[in-house]
Amino acid sequence: MFKAKKTAPKSRIIVANWKMNPVDLKEAKKTFAVIKRVNLAKIKDKIVICPPSVYLSELSLKYSGSKIVFGAQDVSTEINPESTGEVSAQILKNLKVQYVIVGHSERRRLGEPEEAIAQKIKMALSAGMKVILCVGEKTRDVNGEYLRFIERQLREDLGALNKKFFSQIIIAYEPIWTIGSGKTSVDGHDLHQMNLFIKKVLVAIFGRKSGLEVPILYGGSVDDENAKQLIEFGEVSGLLIGRASLNPYVFLKILKAIN
Ligand code: PGA
Repeated sequence: MFKAKKTAPKSRIIVANWKMNPVDLKEAKKTFAVIKRVNLAKIKDKIVICPPSVYLSELSLKYSGSKIVFGAQDVSTEINPESTGEVSAQILKNLKVQYVIVGHSERRRLGEPEEAIAQKIKMALSAGMKVILCVGEKTRDVNGEYLRFIERQLREDLGALNKKFFSQIIIAYEPIWTIGSGKTSVDGHDLHQMNLFIKKVLVAIFGRKSGLEVPILYGGSVDDENAKQLIEFGEVSGLLIGRASLNPYVFLKILKAIN
């Protein structure tokens, strides 16, 4: 297995993916108001809140700071403004959105192909935003086919990019069988192995120095009980949290546990 030099991540990235929740803006503001109370002086992490895009103008424009920032859950492939229903990278950028989640498995399962994902990455990067690219296998097999699957996703999504963009890329490894399952099923050792494998592919794509600098996060049933262990044993640079981020008190507990 590829051996990466151990370098402590500069600052970790904790992403709250609210998905299609909550159902009204008032609730979204209430959730954020609790998160905002976090003692930022004690937090080493960058916190990226990704609410439904319709709430971004209320939240991101008003509350983007240096440690708490906002992300979108998707971005359009289109540049042509005659694109009904789409939200462009530039619109998001103008709302002070700094991150975009691309290639989440819940979008891939709607039929989003790899070419569209690669195009979305380009759009977000050229608007000056950072991309959180989600990759992950549906199942594991003893022959290691799942590793080849993840390598293919990374190469197809990032392979054609200008190498200078490496510093705007973040990878979220999210094994699909863990998302929303309520049980992590990835132990620290497995996660660490996967972390090294992804690093190896990123080095092949971006070159050694740049490839090793790309942060790798873990997502899939993270909660206040497993977060610390995942970070420590998996040696990941952060977490992507779905359901547990919707309860702001649990989310704060996670931040506390890993700090
Ligand atoms: P989960 O979702 O934490 O609810 O499993 C993770 C995700 O958004 O991918």
